[in-house]
Amino acid sequence: MNITALTRRDLGALENFHDLDPTQDDFRSAVLDGLGHRQKAISSKFFYDQRGSQLFDAITELPEYYPTRTEIGILRRYAREIEAAVGLEPVVVEFGAGSVVKIRLLLDALRAPVFVPIDISREHLVRSSRELAADYADTRVIAICADFTRDILLPADLPTKNRLGFFPGSTLGNFTREEAARFLERARTTLGPGSAFLIGIDLRKDEETLHAAYNDSQGVTAAFNLNLLRRINREIGATFDLTKFRHEAPWVQEKGRIEMRLISTESQSVIVAGQRFHFAAGEHIHTENSHKYDVEEFQALARGAGYDPSKVWVDDAQRFSLHYLKA
Ligand code: AVJ
Repeated sequence: MNITALTRRDLGALENFHDLDPTQDDFRSAVLDGLGHRQKAISSKFFYDQRGSQLFDAITELPEYYPTRTEIGILRRYAREIEAAVGLEPVVVEFGAGSVVKIRLLLDALRAPVFVPIDISREHLVRSSRELAADYADTRVIAICADFTRDILLPADLPTKNRLGFFPGSTLGNFTREEAARFLERARTTLGPGSAFLIGIDLRKDEETLHAAYNDSQGVTAAFNLNLLRRINREIGATFDLTKFRHEAPWVQEKGRIEMRLISTESQSVIVAGQRFHFAAGEHIHTENSHKYDVEEFQALARGAGYDPSKVWVDDAQRFSLHYLKA
């Protein structure tokens, strides 16, 4: 589907929609490539089909999953300080149109004249952008459907002054430390000189808390992880039996990250887009990394990517950090 397949009603109050068309081919070739490696792996960016987005929303409500509510608490509590640091009338560019609650808090605090959400999920992007466009009459909403792990060309008419990148939710944690540094560098080029970044990063903490957040008692995270196989079955044609895989999310100390895995519970073969893949009993597909940082560790990484980490806000329990970086 591209812009021409969207009706006026789909777009509602949203006048500006740029479709860089992250295609179905990307998903297919990424899955085939990822399953062909010795350590099978599929990128976490593919979790978010409609059902995956709903399951993630359910995760953010879980008692064990502290990041979302903690970051919202920081945004509420420090709204004035954030406003003072950012200055007036920024052009806010959000990487991943994730949480409506967070962006509303930010737009309320900053009164941004322009808001540019970038998201890979077209339906989710259109839905959330049109709601914001309807509710924030003084903010021009320019939605871009794109995969932000790739190079992104911002619309040529976007004001260049006072650009603020917004990357909440510790989604940067999906990247390895090297990938994160490269992403920040590229974003600095995209946003341009004089820009800044507001970025949410989950903090290192005791293993028990981390483990519980990714292995919740209701099994919502397990359903979210397994939904990737369901999506592959449906969208590219595959024979994954979801009862023969189970979710696991260990804390990997030497890498400073939670890893999400799908473990094959028996020796089996699966056909994906006509190709046969073998799984040994106990073998896993690596589906996500969720890196955790100390405040100083993340600031050093930001410096290495050409930023001045000029401010950081942390909740009282020191679970989550919100960094203000200047290019
Ligand atoms: C949306 C990437 C920040 O890593 O905590 C939640 C995704 N995965 N539970 C995270 C996720 C499992 C989440 N991010």
